[in-house]
Amino acid sequence: MAEGEPIRVVVTGAAGQIAYSLISMIANGDVFGTKQPVILHLLDIPPAMGVLEGVCMEIDDLALPLVKGYVKTTDPEVAFKDVDAAFLVGAMPRREGMERKDLLSANVKIFKVQGEALNKYAKKDVKVLVVGNPANTNALICSFYAPSIPKENFTAMTRLDQNRAQSAIAKRLGLCVSNVKNVTIWGNHSSTQFPDVFNASVTSSDSSKSVYDSINDSQWLEGDFIKTIQTRGAAVIQARKMSSAMSAAKAAVDHMRDWWSGTASGSWVSMGVISDGSYGVPKDLIYSLPVSISNKQWKIVQGLKITDFAKNKLDLTAKELLEEKEEAMAVCNA
Ligand code: NAD
Ligand code: LMR
Repeated sequence: MAEGEPIRVVVTGAAGQIAYSLISMIANGDVFGTKQPVILHLLDIPPAMGVLEGVCMEIDDLALPLVKGYVKTTDPEVAFKDVDAAFLVGAMPRREGMERKDLLSANVKIFKVQGEALNKYAKKDVKVLVVGNPANTNALICSFYAPSIPKENFTAMTRLDQNRAQSAIAKRLGLCVSNVKNVTIWGNHSSTQFPDVFNASVTSSDSSKSVYDSINDSQWLEGDFIKTIQTRGAAVIQARKMSSAMSAAKAAVDHMRDWWSGTASGSWVSMGVISDGSYGVPKDLIYSLPVSISNKQWKIVQGLKITDFAKNKLDLTAKELLEEKEEAMAVCNA
């Protein structure tokens, strides 16, 4: 049963393929809870309004009691007015043969405009999840143009990479994915990301063992495993001729749900968050880090073991993010 005041949730790119899966999960209570009513703010661009009309018909036809209304709009003022949570999905996806950073010049201006709109119209405690690629740098730009909202409120999605890594480990061990805990994605949502299992564990009802010891194949863990996760998005594009959507929407749900409701004691999740110098990562990048969450506030998990192998990988992905930041600033200032 729905209780209390509805919250306002904006989804951009609402006529696109990720939004098509995401909206129904938000409407069903998978993100904010099955007692939290929502009003959906659906933003897209003028050529997509016909498709969005059809999506709205389907929202009606879902007949879900948590949906207390929706607005469909092309106007950022309407879309971002008084929102509590923002899923920034709308952006161009990459095609076969591209790296995600090749989208930077096309997409980053969208996040400048939406940052400015969030700054003016959203609630000051709005929780922003950037999905559109290149997600880390887009989130940084969005935050830069929304100075009245705390930097901690802007995050980028690397949960899909975490889910991919957990699933690959579980498959290799013949276990359920829920038995694999605390895989960390470090850095950029790109092919330089570092999926790290050095601190991850495999748990059952009465035991916990490190993933490293359980798999006992460092060549695979430091070679093919990392490469597979780093290039999984490209592999999906090659097979589907479109980028991941169902799994991306589920990852967005996982990310925002954990931010809203918190992580279990002793466990963490990966989110692109503003860096503060922890683990030697340069400050003021949106860099994927291990975070624990309570009271809707994330905190970087400290003290994880970083081997020399890992440190090199952390530095490499930081270097790419520094380059993207410089390029994005140049595009926005042009
Ligand atoms: P899509 O092309 O199906 O949908 C994008 C939608 O955004 C379209 O409806 C388009 O009209 C809309 N749009 C474009 N410019 C807009 C603007 N200025 N304001 C509002 N809407 C706008 O793409 P998709 O498959 O849904 O992917 C969306 C983005 O998410 C892409 O950039 C993709 O690369 C990225 N992505 C990220 C991850 C991740 O893990 N971070 C995973 C999958 C996809
Ligand atoms: C993904 O990881 O699947 C998305 O970022 C889409 C892409 O371009 O790879």
